[in-house]
Amino acid sequence: MTRLPDIPRVLSLANQKGGVGKTTTAINLGTALAAIGEEVLIVDLDPQGNASTGLGIDRKSRKVSTYDVLIGEAELSEALVPTAVPRLTVAPSTLDNLGVELEIAASADRAYRLRKAIARHAEKVALDAAGREKHFTYVLIDCPPSLNLLTINALSASHSILVPLQCEFFALEGLSQLLSTVEQVKRSLNPELGIHGIVLTMYDGRNNLSAQVVQDVRANMGDAVYETIIPRNVRVSEAPSYGKPALLYDLKCTGSQAYLKLASEIIQRERRFRAAA
Ligand SMILES: Nc1ncnc2c1ncn2[C@@H]1O[C@H](COP(=O)(O)OP(=O)(O)OP(=O)(O)O)[C@@H](O)[C@H]1O
Ligand SMILES: [Mg+2]
Repeated sequence: MTRLPDIPRVLSLANQKGGVGKTTTAINLGTALAAIGEEVLIVDLDPQGNASTGLGIDRKSRKVSTYDVLIGEAELSEALVPTAVPRLTVAPSTLDNLGVELEIAASADRAYRLRKAIARHAEKVALDAAGREKHFTYVLIDCPPSLNLLTINALSASHSILVPLQCEFFALEGLSQLLSTVEQVKRSLNPELGIHGIVLTMYDGRNNLSAQVVQDVRANMGDAVYETIIPRNVRVSEAPSYGKPALLYDLKCTGSQAYLKLASEIIQRERRFRAAA
């Protein structure tokens, strides 16, 4: 098995439930981490390509995509596209990723394509005395809403998983399936995989249900749940249509501020994990 590099830290944003805030969190957490000095790569694995679009990367600029990397036609460094945010880069996705499963299903390393690509990039960085390669400290992988081979590639390539849960009725539904997939990947593909945390999203303070969901999720999942809760905020949902992260569109809005807080909580948790390792 190819060894995962220690740096960058690789985190998957995953939940097979659709519309829970995976992409919004990838974009805004990535921006917030970059804003506090980290060098961040967002790997868009979703055929919908929402993270790429939300970061202002139009279809024409996606000449090399994560699909090309997964099928072995390109190296990760060839897929990198800079964004308007300093220190934030994206490896974009296209609809081609709908076909990736068929392309690679027959090969023995089908679950390790992304892991190998990230490891090769980290090796190149280590050997790169001229400083031509982007030296990332965090990689955030935006997964599609399914537990398919794309998501398995993400989990095999990650140190840990970050699970967005929407504050709605049935928030916990499907979580046990996700957690058992994580256990399976850990046993068979990636023993290093851990749960980084669960982030509650789209919290609506005017709604009793939201508060109830927070209580339930905390009662069930304990310390795995981040302290930071992402509020429902119209500025956050408007930003992608301008091809901007919320933090660039409106830094002061409650959503942007929450993502900044989440970023520092994540860095603190990372330090704790490393100290314990
Ligand atoms: N904090 C928020 N406040 C308001 N709207 C939000 C917030 N977070 C996400 N949304 C909106 O909710 C919808 C779903 O969010 P998002 O696309 O991030 O979810 P997802 O889990 O990536 O979805 P998919 O499963 O389709 O990939 C989007 O329209 C997004 O703009
Ligand atoms: Mg998404």
